[in-house]
Amino acid sequence: MCGIIGYVGKRNAQPILIQGLKRLEYRGYDSAGVALFNQGSSNAITIVKTAKDNLPNGVSPLISLAGKLKPDSAQIGIAHTRWATHGEPNETNAHPHVCNKHGIAVVHNGIIENYRALRKYLESKGHTMSTGTDSEVLAHLIGENFDAKEKDPLISAVQKTLAEIEGTYGMAVMMKGYDGIVAARNGSPLIIGLGDEELFISSDPGPINDHTKNIIRLDDFQVARIGPDGYHITNLDNDVFESKVEKITWDIKQIELSGYDHFMQKEIFQQPQTVQDAFRGRLGEKGVRLDGLDELGKVMPKISRIKLVACGTSWHASKIGKYLFENLAGIPAEVDYASEFRYAHPILDPAELVIVLSQSGETADTLEALRQAKKTNHTFGIVNAVGSLITRENDAGIYIHAGPEIGVASTKAFTGQVTCLYLMALQMGIERGVIDNYSVHKAELESLPGKIKEILDMDSNIKTIAENYAKNKNYLFLGRGINFPVALEGALKLKEISKIHAEGYPAAEMKHGPIALIDKNMPVVFVATGRDTLYEKVLSNMEEVKARKGKIIAVVNQGDERVRDLADHIIPVPTTSKWLAPLLNVIPLQLLAYHTAVIRGKNPDKPENLAKAVTVE
Ligand code: F6R
Repeated sequence: MCGIIGYVGKRNAQPILIQGLKRLEYRGYDSAGVALFNQGSSNAITIVKTAKDNLPNGVSPLISLAGKLKPDSAQIGIAHTRWATHGEPNETNAHPHVCNKHGIAVVHNGIIENYRALRKYLESKGHTMSTGTDSEVLAHLIGENFDAKEKDPLISAVQKTLAEIEGTYGMAVMMKGYDGIVAARNGSPLIIGLGDEELFISSDPGPINDHTKNIIRLDDFQVARIGPDGYHITNLDNDVFESKVEKITWDIKQIELSGYDHFMQKEIFQQPQTVQDAFRGRLGEKGVRLDGLDELGKVMPKISRIKLVACGTSWHASKIGKYLFENLAGIPAEVDYASEFRYAHPILDPAELVIVLSQSGETADTLEALRQAKKTNHTFGIVNAVGSLITRENDAGIYIHAGPEIGVASTKAFTGQVTCLYLMALQMGIERGVIDNYSVHKAELESLPGKIKEILDMDSNIKTIAENYAKNKNYLFLGRGINFPVALEGALKLKEISKIHAEGYPAAEMKHGPIALIDKNMPVVFVATGRDTLYEKVLSNMEEVKARKGKIIAVVNQGDERVRDLADHIIPVPTTSKWLAPLLNVIPLQLLAYHTAVIRGKNPDKPENLAKAVTVE
């Protein structure tokens, strides 16, 4: 959460920082601010901040910030876009935070858990706090720890401060009269960008991709200085590190709208490619090739159980994974929320492979769950963000290869994750001798991108359905078996971006409670593809809804005439195998949520109170 960008070089920092914040806005958009230091003209740091609550409806803090900045040629600066955790999302609480003692400015992503005690201590030392945030104590503690006798007093003060705090941070610090930026991380990602006679600090590679392809990812408890003399990385004890320089391989076009109205829309429409990219090069003639699984080597045949751990949409993908591992590979699987797993002291079987799923590879709960699991078990990651912390801490893993996902509501990462889970289940099933029709699975998977395109072609029909119910206050999503997690995902998408209350349920559970809510004002989305034994039962559930005058929107297979008679709206999707059906069925639900949000005047890329990548607990 929160985005950080910093610049030191010979160019004017202002436009670089503002452009960088635009790229980071998906990480938080409650408020924004910059600190600029112009060595040439003054010895002071200029701070400019702005917040949503002070602005006319619909004006983004970034637009306002850019408007408030006076022309200036500062060549050092840090900037921040905020997703509030402690303290209201107002202008006072916007970053940078300042300690006047030495003219220190700090931007911070993360949570300082012992901030109350630190605040008291700092107040006893004469510091006056002016915000309601936890982050402000960082600026004051650095000021308090500043000792001009040290070789680089700012680096030393930051190291000392970080040893005294409990919590997580990705942070950047400037000081008046100081010719660089000091940055540090623990839990919240931070990279250094290595340009031509210029250096950057950023929460992710997006903002610096225009300027350089060379980056260094900071590790936890590392402190870096960037300045005219280059970069210098140490730990809290001042031991020096030589870090690996990585090349950003993706293209800037991947993080631009490219003609779409919103990133969420672009990412929904990218999904034929997402699925293809997830299986490309991995479907051999005789079986699946997943290098990540091979890395586990001798461990694999001993695996007799699977535990999937994730949050949000990744948790829904994991629920689908359970069906795949159990039904295709014959391996018992369970799914846990990472936030629960990490505190549950789970009793893991040593033969249990713990698979963590994460789009961002940064989610704090998932990362901590992984660290817990690693103490006793083998761990495996299915991650989208290349080089992210979760990928680095896993024993082995595979990438989804979906490219950057900017839309706050996750879409293409979900289909990428499910495709990867399917591939894993196939490979494990083949290795265990329980799959003897691999070529059928392969052909069906290869046909999916074309089938997803067919569904995307129904976009305007789905928009019409969305128009019918955009004023409703509630929605219910029902599905059975492997379609139950799809119903959960449909409900999550809708509530996240349209602010309509929505619930996902196994269809048969409806009669145990939710049926009480059904009347003419309740649209009920049924995910009712496939013709197995559950199909008839779902039809009965539709009858129950119809009898109570609920409105039925049904995702069914093309040619399904029986549901046509019952439903108010039909979304016919191509037929595929039961195990791949979620990859098709989720697409209309994503479109339904997207259109509903737009019709209701919401920006789907900036859902209220949400931000991408939850790097705090
Ligand atoms: C929903 C959504 C969130 C994330 C969750 C996990 O649209 O985006 O629920 O799925 O925060 O994030 P990752 O997958 O990055 O660990």
